[in-house]
Amino acid sequence: MKKYIMSGFFFTACILAIVLMFTLPGQGEENKVVKPSMPEVVLDASAAEILVKASCISCHGDQLQGGVGPNLQAIGSTMSPEEIYTLVSKGKGIMPGFKDTLAEEEIANVAQWLAQKK
Ligand code: HEC
Repeated sequence: MKKYIMSGFFFTACILAIVLMFTLPGQGEENKVVKPSMPEVVLDASAAEILVKASCISCHGDQLQGGVGPNLQAIGSTMSPEEIYTLVSKGKGIMPGFKDTLAEEEIANVAQWLAQKK
């Protein structure tokens, strides 16, 4: 008898977990995808340069002069840090999004660094 009560509890807990999974974090996730908000970071130019060398120059060129991807040498005159952050997080066209491979703070740092290139 006790066994049935226990499995009843277990079943209820599972249902509850599934319901929570689809309600609480689900909505948060959706908001994030629509408009990722850039975390505040203090610009660390050398960290940004290292990251760009590792992740971006294969497409944007070692001097950011362009290649597979467009020239980024004056990207700061056309895009704000927030716009760059959103684009790098989500990706665009054949450019991959980096939100799964880089920390939000790393992307924000690179976005600020690029936005200074005018
Ligand atoms: C696989 C190649 C590839 C990699 C790696 C890549 N990009 Fe891109 N990037 C592109 C392409 C292609 C575009 C143009 C996308 C479009 O407009 O359709 C682009 C566009 C951009 C733009 C917008 C430029 C503009 O003038 O509109 C920015 C900013 C940018 N990339 C930054 C980065 C940063 C920062 C990294 C590294 C974290 C990076 N990219 C890595 C290929 C890449």
